[in-house]
Amino acid sequence: MDRRTFTKLFAGMITAASLPTQLQAKALIGAQSSFFKALEQKPWLLGYLGTTESSLSGDIKIVHGKIPSDLRGNFFRNGPANHNIGSDRFAHWFDAPGMVQRFAFSDAGVHHHGRLIETKRNVAETKANRILFSGFGTYGAELTSGGSANALSPGNISLLDHAGDLLALWEGGSPHIINPETLETEGIKSWSDETIGLPFGAHPRKDQDGSLWNIGYSVNPAALILYHISADGVLQQTHILPQTATPMVHDFMITATKIIIVAPPYTAVNPEGKAFVDLFEWQNQQPAEVMVIDKADLNSVVKLEIEPFWVYHFGNAYDISSSEIGFDFALHDDPTFMTQDAVAVMDGSWDGTVSAASLYVQARLNLNTKTLHLDKRPELGQVEFIQTDARQNLSAHQYALLLAQPEGVEGFGFDRLLLVDRTSGLTSSFDVGKTEILEEHLIVPKPNSVDAFWVIGTSLDWQKGTTHLSVYEGAHLSDGPIMKAELDLALPLGLHGTWIPL
Ligand SMILES: [Fe+2]
Repeated sequence: MDRRTFTKLFAGMITAASLPTQLQAKALIGAQSSFFKALEQKPWLLGYLGTTESSLSGDIKIVHGKIPSDLRGNFFRNGPANHNIGSDRFAHWFDAPGMVQRFAFSDAGVHHHGRLIETKRNVAETKANRILFSGFGTYGAELTSGGSANALSPGNISLLDHAGDLLALWEGGSPHIINPETLETEGIKSWSDETIGLPFGAHPRKDQDGSLWNIGYSVNPAALILYHISADGVLQQTHILPQTATPMVHDFMITATKIIIVAPPYTAVNPEGKAFVDLFEWQNQQPAEVMVIDKADLNSVVKLEIEPFWVYHFGNAYDISSSEIGFDFALHDDPTFMTQDAVAVMDGSWDGTVSAASLYVQARLNLNTKTLHLDKRPELGQVEFIQTDARQNLSAHQYALLLAQPEGVEGFGFDRLLLVDRTSGLTSSFDVGKTEILEEHLIVPKPNSVDAFWVIGTSLDWQKGTTHLSVYEGAHLSDGPIMKAELDLALPLGLHGTWIPL
């Protein structure tokens, strides 16, 4: 698409943003008091209490084992953190201002620092000591949806290390640049004048040449946007896929030759929706659409219609042949975790009922027959936060790392680390115990090895009120952590992170 057409299609969008303009009233006041009341009965809600601080630095001690001598670097995590601002409380888990948590691994041990991501919105709401803007799932008569997408960003989903920048990603607007040393927010990452403020997804995919692909989903105008950014951080290409009704697309995949977008039948058909999520409607009688795009010619799109399912996160995709693609992901029956559970946990009313199954699935897509074969693993339990080894990107990867909840959910979250060996079909796992809730764990490649790795991640011990940082040997996950450190802070349960080696 040429520059003029791109600009024309998106003219006005930067101010229109992707949020509804007609907001209806819903009292926010009350959610905070009901949450605190529920917290007395459900201590695991500590993970969703949030912090009121803009900077966190706790005392962290190694309580088991030691840091491997060749594991040096920084583990960064992002997630919604300041759930309460003054007497207001965000109505949805995804809405609070983002905070970066950094765990630095050095010869001196582990050091922790957390800092509010200083987006325009987060700074304004902190200063005002109240919620000012509507969001993904929060709305109210006193709140505004006005301003640009970038002005509305809490910057709270994920982190990306690319071309020397550490970027905090949301999905409604542009990334924010984070100083990896001070954790200060240094401004908005502008890929170009045309794309600043446009939706930019939270899960970009790195290609074999180090370049980056990403998508964004835009409600108004209805479109999917493709981005291709070079290894040195220069926007190479943008491409628009017009939509009749925009699907919510949180993640996508690439292979060596293709881009794969799965568009569930969860589309923006309610222009009168109150919060952003209310614009979308789950239409389970409709198929999901798979778009397979030729990387060499973005106008070449093969479309397939499949049985509907919902997905947040994919693992890794790869070409099996010119007409077959393999990939894995966590399949959800529908998006009710997002539309119900992630709301109920914020007012404390969540009762332990998981609204939708989420299964680990290995998939095989045939472009000749236009069919998708799903190999579901329900015996592994509820799963999410899938990770794969970046060294095996775009090839048939051996391992999928997942958070799992094998025996029904007692608290809102996962307590089993699960490693699936896709070659043998065998799994290994480690249970952290019923008083801990796991956050996303990462596969961290060992230096000077082609396939060995550590597993690194955090968990909240809601009984002790501490956050645990653990390192596991990838080949011996079930032996438990080889290093465990305890931070004397109950960090808010977050979303995605990244490891940057020294
Ligand atoms: Fe995500």
